[in-house]
Amino acid sequence: MSATPSSFAPGAPAAIAGCRSALGEGAPAQGFAADLARALASRPRSISPKYFYDVEGSRLFDRICELPEYYPTRTELGILATHAGAIAAQIGPRAEIVEFGAGSCVKVGLLLAAMDRPARYLPIDISGEHLAAAAAELRASFPALDVQPVVADYTQRLLLPAPLAGAGRRVGFFPGSTIGNFTPLEALDFLEATGQALRGGALLLGADLVKEPSVLHAAYSDAQGVTAAFNLNLLARANRELGTDFVLEQFSHSAFYNAPLQRIEMHLVSRCRQHVTHDGRRHEFEEGETLHTENSYKFTIEGLRELASRAGFTPGPVWTDPARLFSLHWLQAPQ
Ligand code: AVJ
Repeated sequence: MSATPSSFAPGAPAAIAGCRSALGEGAPAQGFAADLARALASRPRSISPKYFYDVEGSRLFDRICELPEYYPTRTELGILATHAGAIAAQIGPRAEIVEFGAGSCVKVGLLLAAMDRPARYLPIDISGEHLAAAAAELRASFPALDVQPVVADYTQRLLLPAPLAGAGRRVGFFPGSTIGNFTPLEALDFLEATGQALRGGALLLGADLVKEPSVLHAAYSDAQGVTAAFNLNLLARANRELGTDFVLEQFSHSAFYNAPLQRIEMHLVSRCRQHVTHDGRRHEFEEGETLHTENSYKFTIEGLRELASRAGFTPGPVWTDPARLFSLHWLQAPQ
C-alpha cells in the first residue's frame, strides 16, 4: 500500500469541481472576509452556505438533524437501515468507500456494517479536525477497517490514494442531499468530475425530494427556532471572526420554498434601515433587504436520474422511504 497520495485516476489529478474560481495570478481573494465583502457590496446580496459551519454552526446543524420537523436525516438513515442488504449487494465485496464530507459516521457505519469485507474507507473533508474525529469513531467501530482520511475540498481538485491492490469497486458516498446546495449547473459540473474520478465504480447519492411545500417550510422554519439560530450564526460568526457589528436582533430568519426553481431559499432579512461596518466600509441595509444565505434544491427521482445521465452516469436502483420524502440513488460511473 502506498502512503503517498497519487492521482485518483491515471493521468491528470481528478478535478471534482463545480468551482470555477481561477487559482494563481489574478485569482479573487478567498475566504470568509473576502466573500462577505463581496456579498455586502453586491445586489441582491448572497453568500455561500459553507460559512455556516464553524464550531457553533456545526453544533446547531447537529441539533437541526434531531428536530421533529427536519425529516431528511432520519429518513435517509431509515432508508439505509431498511435497504442495507440490497445496497451492500450492489456495492459488492472488498469495496472502497469514498465519502464526500465526513459529517455522518452513523450513515457510513450502517453501510460498512452491511458490506462484505470493506477494503478501505476514505473520508474527504476540508476540516482536519472533523476528519480526525470521524476516523477515530470509525476505527473504534471497525477495528479491521483501513481508514485513510483525505484533507481536501471535494468541490475543488482532489487527490486520492491509488486504489488498493485486490480491492473491489470504488464507491463514492454523498449523503444528506448536500448536492442540493449546488445550483443545477454546479451539480452537473460536480457530477461530471466525480464520475470521471470514480471511473469504473459508482456513486451512492442522497437526494431530498420535492414534496408538499408546508412540509418543506416546517423543516426549514422549525418551532424551536434552531434553524433561525443556525442562519443568524453566520452574522454572529462574522462579528466574532471579522469584527463586524451586525446587530443580530435587527435581522430575522426567512425560509421559503421557491416552487418554480424547486428550492428552499434561506435569507436573513433586515428588520429596519440600518448599517453594518466591515473592513472599514459602511454598508446600508434597507428595511426588508435580505442577505441570501442558502439554496437547498429538491429533486424528483426522474429529474435526478436525468441530471446524473447528463453527467455520464448510468442510473441504477433507487431506494426511498414509504412516504417518498427522500431518495438514495445508485449511479454507475462511466468506464
Ligand atoms: C446540509 C445542505 C443538506 O439543505 O437541508 C438544514 C442544510 N439548512 N437546515 C439542507 C440545512 C437548513 C442542509 N444540507
